[in-house]
Amino acid sequence: MVEEVVDDERRPARGKSARNPVPLTQVSTEPIARQSTGIDEVDRVLGGGIVPGAFVLLGGDPGIGKSTLLLQIAAHVSQEGPVLYVTAEESEVQTRIRAERLGVKSENLFLLAEGDIRTIIQAIESRSWLMAVVDSLQTTFNPELESAPGSVAQVRDVAAQVMRVAKQGCPVFLVGHVNKEGSERPAA
Ligand SMILES: Nc1ncnc2c1ncn2[C@@H]1O[C@H](COP(=O)(O)OP(=O)(O)OP(=O)(O)O)[C@@H](O)[C@H]1O
Ligand SMILES: [Mg+2]
Repeated sequence: MVEEVVDDERRPARGKSARNPVPLTQVSTEPIARQSTGIDEVDRVLGGGIVPGAFVLLGGDPGIGKSTLLLQIAAHVSQEGPVLYVTAEESEVQTRIRAERLGVKSENLFLLAEGDIRTIIQAIESRSWLMAVVDSLQTTFNPELESAPGSVAQVRDVAAQVMRVAKQGCPVFLVGHVNKEGSERPAA
């Protein structure tokens, strides 16, 4: 059994679709501007760079360098516009110290040390960021759920909320820890 929050507002009433399907041939093919991450290999994996609305899950073993890589990417992208870096794992000071070690200095890079997904979503929606980072999936939580951060219910809820906000236009990178079995999902 997995606990979930009932949210009727999210689901449009039957027969009242919020968006209409469009014919494939009428979908705009104007080239999408891709934002470079500053790292060729990451750009290649992303298909040429970051596109608006992208939702990227960055998974990896503990200590492999996920936060470091994303801080570097965030710093690079922030040369073009405002970038939000949310960390539920480290304090703002710790992140600042890491940034200094990496030689990262940007007026356009904003930090938020927060674990409550409701506050994080608000922050992402508060202005038009060029990109946002949420570090990490397993430490971010919805207090409306009774289960602990990192549980199946929490991970599903957080991922769904972050995906929804990303689809509104702001590209989001979400960090996911990989457990001993090599899976993104927590051991239920
Ligand atoms: N490309 C790299 N080369 C060498 N050392 C690195 C590299 N990236 C990160 N490190 C170092 O590895 C350590 C762990 O990095 P980091 O905290 O970014 O990993 P993480 O995957 O976010 O870890 P966690 O799972 O604990 O959040 C740090 O001390 C960092 O300085
Ligand atoms: Mg980390």
